Amino acid sequence: MPLIELQDVSFSYGKTPAIDQLSLTVEAGEWVTIVGPNGSGKSTLAKLLIGLLKTQQGTIQVAGETLDETTVQGIREKIGIIFQNPDNQFVGVTVKDDIAFGLENLSVPYEEMLKRIDHYSKAVGMDAYLDKEPSQLSGGQKQRVAIAGTLAMKPELIIFDEATSMLDPTGRQAMLEIMHALKASGKTILSITHDLKEALPADRVLVMHEGRLLKSGTPRDILRDEPLLKKARLTLLEPFKYMNQLAKKKQLTDEWEALLWQSAFTL
Ligand SMILES: Nc1ncnc2c1ncn2[C@@H]1O[C@H](COP(=O)(O)OP(=O)(O)OP(=O)(O)O)[C@@H](O)[C@H]1O
Ligand SMILES: [Mg+2]
Repeated sequence: MPLIELQDVSFSYGKTPAIDQLSLTVEAGEWVTIVGPNGSGKSTLAKLLIGLLKTQQGTIQVAGETLDETTVQGIREKIGIIFQNPDNQFVGVTVKDDIAFGLENLSVPYEEMLKRIDHYSKAVGMDAYLDKEPSQLSGGQKQRVAIAGTLAMKPELIIFDEATSMLDPTGRQAMLEIMHALKASGKTILSITHDLKEALPADRVLVMHEGRLLKSGTPRDILRDEPLLKKARLTLLEPFKYMNQLAKKKQLTDEWEALLWQSAFTL
């Protein structure tokens, strides 16, 4: 049974559909990256998944349960989401309170709560800021706190909606390491990004366009597909450009391919 299953889902804010008869599945433990141009419906999809928006057609199932008014609360506890913009995501007076808030709602015992706050604030490099007010933090620092708060709740599925867009290179690297650790611990990851480097370690990449799924495939297949990426307004990573150039000249050996694939990870 897939963790997430969308069947024929449509949603529109106005006349044009933001999500247009979309069907897809995500398996438990899978790391799926969604890419697509601005306005292609990625964030809308994320909001539909957590029941922040209501499907106007079709069904969404999470862990076998159909998402509706009666199941939305339970389903939300399974899903953690970190949005593009970390503002408006804060409820606590201090960073510590903020991370604690979600845990209190889940009735996590006090000792366990302290442990998680300590662990996750360190994981995102914000342990020195626990007593600060969230409003005094920079955008990237807020983003890190939002990430710590979500991870501390230990959801089964974590949606990163361009959650790394405000992070510096060190922060992005740390996030990728966190994603690898989440994957290793059996969590399901849905990362939405314009940064193709973030798609490299995924199990599967979905390309969205005008509310529809343009293509689903392995990072190896998708990241080499120049016409597809062009349509999604994404730039081919250099190593894949070379890969395609060599392939055109019929000079792409297995060795070159492996080397270029590996080099993409060090960009
Ligand atoms: N609150 C809203 N009210 C009206 N229309 C909206 C609203 N939010 C999004 N839309 C429209 O829905 C479509 C999909 O938007 P969405 O935010 O899902 O795109 P996205 O793929 O996340 O884009 P981005 O890469 O810019 O984050 C767009 O055409 C957008 O203009
Ligand atoms: Mg978006």
